[in-house]
Amino acid sequence: MPFTGEGEALWQYGSGWLAALPAGGMIRCERQQVPGREVAVPGSAGSNPVRINFIPPLHLSFALDASRATGSTLLSLTATSTTSTIMDLSKAHVLVTGGSAGIGRATAKLLIDRGAQVAVCGRNEARLRAVAEEIGALAVPADVSQESEVERLVETVVRDLGGYDVLINNAGIGTFATLLETTAEQMRQIWEINVLGATLVARESARHFVANGGGNIVNVVSTSGQRAGAGGSAYASSKFALAGLTQSWRAELRKHDIRVMQVNPSEVITEFFERSGRTQKDDPTKLQAEDIAHTIASMLELDDRAFITETTVWATNPSS
Ligand SMILES: NC(=O)c1ccc[n+]([C@@H]2O[C@H](COP(=O)([O-])OP(=O)(O)OC[C@H]3O[C@@H](n4cnc5c(N)ncnc54)[C@H](OP(=O)(O)O)[C@@H]3O)[C@@H](O)[C@H]2O)c1
Repeated sequence: MPFTGEGEALWQYGSGWLAALPAGGMIRCERQQVPGREVAVPGSAGSNPVRINFIPPLHLSFALDASRATGSTLLSLTATSTTSTIMDLSKAHVLVTGGSAGIGRATAKLLIDRGAQVAVCGRNEARLRAVAEEIGALAVPADVSQESEVERLVETVVRDLGGYDVLINNAGIGTFATLLETTAEQMRQIWEINVLGATLVARESARHFVANGGGNIVNVVSTSGQRAGAGGSAYASSKFALAGLTQSWRAELRKHDIRVMQVNPSEVITEFFERSGRTQKDDPTKLQAEDIAHTIASMLELDDRAFITETTVWATNPSS
């Protein structure tokens, strides 16, 4: 007897599933981040497992074409691959803010090396495009402190990457002055990028993630967001604020299967110091951008059912 049937299922975890269908069966994926994907099941009889990769969760509907179906095998859809205990970075779609230099660039490169599709943003367009071409990322110039630019950034990434499920909220600047010398302009500039900018990108990303049923946000904070020192009025206060925002967003977004994580690098050898008016000695015993990239990749790789809320990274034994 030809079998005809339809149904639906929601598969939350893992990176794929197997479908055993009678010949002629068709599987249609809905709400797949790669839209419009339709998979015809080949084979003539019996079970014919088909593996489909997707960014979880996947809401799929299935239907059999009765005119082509033969045999009496009942339709069976079996979710598998939950045995995978890590998030598969090769299927991740990622936006890295401040991806043209330092920690952002190293993180984008590492994730691309692991097979992820990555978009990077930054303000200096020439530099951003050069780095993106070098590492194989999509370049989307944007200033995170400008709301309209952030909206356009997210729209572009969703369109050109076919959606994304990871935000590395990294763009940031520093400036250091004692309270007696701190200007209103310094406070405004730091807070507009490190706090307002991070919030705007997180908000737009979270809207996309909520609509898609899940995602990951990694806020790059700092040990300055745990303990402030002299000269930190603008910078340390902005990182304390981002640490607080991380907690609010985590409390709000967990129920949407969105993991909000925080990484606190200690001093890292990048251009950050020079750009914030200080000098930094190139010292191999201090943290390198790749160390933070590795930390972020490791946090992401934990199974979707679990997440590391916060990680602090120090140099083991810095010589200066
Ligand atoms: N280096 C450290 O010791 C250290 C320690 C702890 C935490 N952090 C944090 O780590 C993050 C990255 O720092 P880093 O050391 O990698 O700095 P970096 O080498 O100076 O790189 C900063 C990146 O952010 C981008 N950026 C800055 N302002 C932006 C804006 N308004 N919109 C979009 N992109 C912007 C920069 O590109 P454009 O200038 O072209 O926009 C660049 O790509 C920052 O949040 C920083 O606070 C750094």
